Amino acid sequence: MTINFQKSYTTDGKVVHLSKDEEINIKLGKIIGKKFVDYRKKWDAANKFELVTDFPLFLHCELNQTCNFTCPHCIIGNKQIVKKYYKDNDEINFQDYKRIVDEGSEYNCPSIAPQGNNEPFLMKNLEEYIRYAHSKGFIDIMLNNNGSALVEKRAKSILDSGLTRLRFSLDASNPETFKKVRVGSPPLERIKKNIYRFLELKEKGGYKLPITGVSFVNIKQNIDEKEKFIDEWKDVVDIVTIQRFAPPSFEKKFDKYYPDDQFLDKPMDSFNCVQPFHRVVIRNNDITPCCAVYSSKLKIGDLRFNSIYNAWHSKEMNELRDMHKKGEYYKNDTCKKCVNSMYPVKKKKN
Ligand SMILES: C[S@@+](CC[C@H](N)C(=O)[O-])C[C@H]1O[C@@H](n2cnc3c(N)ncnc32)[C@H](O)[C@@H]1O
Ligand code: SF4
Ligand code: SF4
Repeated sequence: MTINFQKSYTTDGKVVHLSKDEEINIKLGKIIGKKFVDYRKKWDAANKFELVTDFPLFLHCELNQTCNFTCPHCIIGNKQIVKKYYKDNDEINFQDYKRIVDEGSEYNCPSIAPQGNNEPFLMKNLEEYIRYAHSKGFIDIMLNNNGSALVEKRAKSILDSGLTRLRFSLDASNPETFKKVRVGSPPLERIKKNIYRFLELKEKGGYKLPITGVSFVNIKQNIDEKEKFIDEWKDVVDIVTIQRFAPPSFEKKFDKYYPDDQFLDKPMDSFNCVQPFHRVVIRNNDITPCCAVYSSKLKIGDLRFNSIYNAWHSKEMNELRDMHKKGEYYKNDTCKKCVNSMYPVKKKKN
């Protein structure tokens, strides 16, 4: 079965957004206006390594690492790895978050995610975080969620918060597969009910935003139902997102999740990572250049002592950008492991 989409969009090939009517950023440009269109022009130029903005275009704030699921392919489902890379109970509280948003606002930063590897709707006051960013001029505020905690009584306050994009992660089409990949979740039918109810309230209330999507990470365990998943959701939500599997660490236990078509014959000759060109990820007070679980190894600043502006222009960040512009990912140990784990080489049979 071949499913035709009008448009697809990707920043780096790792995450591909498929939309049926028109490319989703064009749609958002029509809803939000010139400011949004200008920001996306800068984003696309940064993606082509033609522009280094004065301040990151995207602030990715991992407020905590709390989740009610333990999906086995995600770091959060692997407590030992969480302990290895994350500090205990080190949350970004509202005061710290305000400082981040205020600095972003000073530089007209357009885009923020008040969330990382966690379940955002477990935070009872998440709307305050969204509203604050919205009030400070952020025009692209986005969240991914697992669909379990966005129940009807929460939907209205989310619809009124100023959120721009909302994505539900499902990673499966069949209930049995869902149970295996979204461990700890209520059944797929309950999650779907939450999604449909949210969409209904959005439509009835005449809300244009947030644009909505569902997401599917390609792993061996679900790969056979990818097309069914796309077909099932393409007319229901604005975007269907397909993600490349990126193992949370370099341990062998994650080998079993790679789908067969993720393997290459030889390591990548070159790879240009775009993340240090448009974002910073803030986690446990560390200011880092990307969303990799182990990005603290590439730390460019500490929120307690450094401004985001200075971290963005630090020697380490400039060197990382230079390296990625040239495609020389293998010159940095962390990037080398990261790229080789996302583009693994087929093992030879003896
Ligand atoms: C880490 S979750 C955080 C937000 C929320 N809890 C959720 O599940 O959407 C964000 C997204 O990353 C995906 N994800 C988790 N582990 C992944 C991995 N190893 N490789 C690629 N994507 C992954 C999830 O399926 C989800 O779509
Ligand atoms: S729900 Fe999201 S954060 Fe939680 S374990 Fe699953 S993928 Fe990870
Ligand atoms: S570790 Fe390096 S290659 Fe991987 S996402 Fe971060 S910057 Fe990009």
